[in-house]
Amino acid sequence: MLNIDISGISNVVDPSKIDREGAIKALQTLKNRTGEGSDFTGWLDLPYSYDNEEYARVKETAAEIRENADVFIIIGIGGSYLGSRMAIELIRSIRFNETKKPLIYFAGNGISGDATAELLELIEGKSVYVNVISKSGTTLEPALAFRIFRDYINRHYSAEEAKKRIICTTDKARGVLKGIADAEGYRTFVIPDDVGGRYSVFTPVGLLPLAVSGIDIDEVMKSSKAAMDEMLKEDLDNKAVTYAAARRVLYDAGKTVEILSYPGERAHFFAEWWKQLYGESEGKGGKGIYPTSCQITADLHSLGQYIQQGLRILQETMLVFDCCSKTIKLPHLDSNDDGLAYTEKFTYSDILKGAFEGTKQAHISGGVPVITITTDKIDETVLGELVVFFETACGISGYMQGCNPFDQPGVEEYKKNMFAILGRDK
Ligand code: PA5
Repeated sequence: MLNIDISGISNVVDPSKIDREGAIKALQTLKNRTGEGSDFTGWLDLPYSYDNEEYARVKETAAEIRENADVFIIIGIGGSYLGSRMAIELIRSIRFNETKKPLIYFAGNGISGDATAELLELIEGKSVYVNVISKSGTTLEPALAFRIFRDYINRHYSAEEAKKRIICTTDKARGVLKGIADAEGYRTFVIPDDVGGRYSVFTPVGLLPLAVSGIDIDEVMKSSKAAMDEMLKEDLDNKAVTYAAARRVLYDAGKTVEILSYPGERAHFFAEWWKQLYGESEGKGGKGIYPTSCQITADLHSLGQYIQQGLRILQETMLVFDCCSKTIKLPHLDSNDDGLAYTEKFTYSDILKGAFEGTKQAHISGGVPVITITTDKIDETVLGELVVFFETACGISGYMQGCNPFDQPGVEEYKKNMFAILGRDK
């Protein structure tokens, strides 16, 4: 169960003065689909009206891959991979490949010849399935990786086998990828027209990889429905309303950079997913909170100094959960030569709690307002809740800012230049 506490912003603004009414108006705009970009709000419906036939196929395909594959390669970039990667690392482990089959690798999320060459070597001799995910079907990074891994599959398997082993998740009718899939007879899953990349984790974009990794997607979807019921309530205490209103009043007070701090390596990609969600949704028209992240405690030894004493433009959202699912007690030693005997009564969880509380107090006293989001554990239920909470709050927050939270026109600029430099055929 997710909780939000905004008492830690009182060093900058009075928490009772945040504009909850304004946030509710923005929520109405989102729900009633009267705002800019409303044709991309299909993610609001996913928990309620998911295509049952497609959902059943996702589960069947995942079962087949779990049965037959040594290696499952997920090709995609941005919203076409961050959701699945964050969920798999958060719920399973960042070391899932060292303990479970199939091995899951991500490709096409950048332009790295080394990573691609390494992966080609690693998969040699193994049973490989590929899931290429691209809504537009034309994004260069995944398209390049697909060209390479499609060639690998074609060189290692018969045409019939290739049809089984290449799975395309894309638009239902448009795009190069859809054209290839239809011509070659590859299996396809649909990214609905009205769901943009960064809001697509509960479509086959995320659901197939999650199910392959062993995450119980029925539980995730059940929880997302309960969370959506809650986040759409026009209620002053609505948690998404509270978060959106609090970060907005802080922005107006000059806190233009938001740090998502999180415990442990397993939430690293959660922060990456969150950064994309908020950065692409709000960074427009010369406005928007710049999202960044901080792992507690690793990054306190690098960014910590800046957070404590640098430019006072920061607001912090602390995502607090116990990332120690296994109880590790500090052992008793006969000598106290390391001076750590005082830790013997603690587990790692206790020490992490201390680190979070100590960090929160330090940052607040250093002038950084802190919003705290706490969950009691990390599992499928919490994942459903976290995704719906952050997505809904993002829609509300974007409308409070007065922007279209569902487009990303700025992303095209680098592509235009790159294609001109590379001399792409028109
Ligand atoms: O949120 C978004 O829409 C983007 O981040 C896209 O997901 C990303 O650019 C990849 O696009 P596509 O799925 O069309 O390859």
